[in-house]
Amino acid sequence: MWEKRPVLFLILATVVIMIGTTITMIVPFLSVNTEADRIDSVKPYTPLQQEGRDIYIREGCNNCHTQTVRPLVSEVLRYGEYSKSGEFVYDRPFLWGSKRTGPDLARLGGKYPDAWHYKHMAAPRTMIPGSNMPDYGWLSDNPLDPQMVQRKMEILDFPYNADQISALIDKNEMDAIVAYLQKLGSDIPWRKAAETTIVGEITNPYAGASHADMEGWEKIYKSNCSACHGEHHEGDIGPELIGVNYEDDELFQIIFNGISDGGMPAFGSLGTDKVWKITNFLKYYNEEEGHKE
Ligand code: HEC
Ligand code: HEC
Repeated sequence: MWEKRPVLFLILATVVIMIGTTITMIVPFLSVNTEADRIDSVKPYTPLQQEGRDIYIREGCNNCHTQTVRPLVSEVLRYGEYSKSGEFVYDRPFLWGSKRTGPDLARLGGKYPDAWHYKHMAAPRTMIPGSNMPDYGWLSDNPLDPQMVQRKMEILDFPYNADQISALIDKNEMDAIVAYLQKLGSDIPWRKAAETTIVGEITNPYAGASHADMEGWEKIYKSNCSACHGEHHEGDIGPELIGVNYEDDELFQIIFNGISDGGMPAFGSLGTDKVWKITNFLKYYNEEEGHKE
């Protein structure tokens, strides 16, 4: 019997494991990183972005953040289009990560305006109450070393020009990390395509809501919108919302889909119910409360 013959058993077990390895590892390697995966719009990092990437690695941001959206419905709804292998060709090393204390950042580019990132990096809790992300304000005090960045670009064989290098003299580490964050996942134009077109009539489930409803709904506004539009809707990074005059369904769609080329994030992931509550809160504030002040 073969189980009484250790050498034969060892050989057979090895063969079986090798078959498993071949199927689960080597076969997939044949179909990734081929020409078919190349995405022409994916560009190498600029000197400023590349430096930001190195600071990201130095600070260990990847201990709390992943950079890959898996092809699962829940992930795509939360973060956006799932990651394609061709998007990582210039990531040396890649930063997919495995720990999500904070959210995935693979589709971050273009989600927020630069101004939001500067404030959030300096003091996360001013933008997201309850965030446990550390403050990185001191990055603004560290100037960049253009010669060092140039050498890195040469080693990585990424294109750059003399203007890009000399422009680094006025920049600091905070500028670099913000430039890097804005590049993440933005090489493919996925944001417009991801907008939900709402077909048919959309009706406001809370039409005619009263003052009593507003307190709870104001909380939803405060935790999602105040950081950019101000606690009293007076505007800050985003425009003033006092007096904005949209139909219910228009306002609902702005909040649900965001304004992809304007730096207003989409809030569809809050769910339609919460988006309707914010819509009605804003309408109520403008129609009933606005003229009392
Ligand atoms: C201790 C864990 C931790 C570390 C380290 C950390 N973060 Fe975060 N980060 C979070 C958490 C939690 C959130 C969600 C709350 C918030 O937005 O502040 C977050 C949110 C973010 C967001 C907003 C993402 C979005 O889609 O809203 C960005 C951008 C970000 N972090 C960048 C960074 C960068 C860059 C570094 C490294 C310099 C870093 N983080 C380090 C925990 C961390
Ligand atoms: C990261 C910052 C940011 C956050 C958070 C944010 N917005 Fe905006 N919002 C903007 C910016 C920037 C614009 C201007 C975009 C444009 O017009 O191109 C905008 C535009 C708008 C507009 C259109 C204003 C007009 O005059 O047409 C509405 C309405 C709006 N936001 C509502 C909201 C609501 C409600 C929330 C919370 C659920 C919210 N926003 C959260 C940045 C933000």
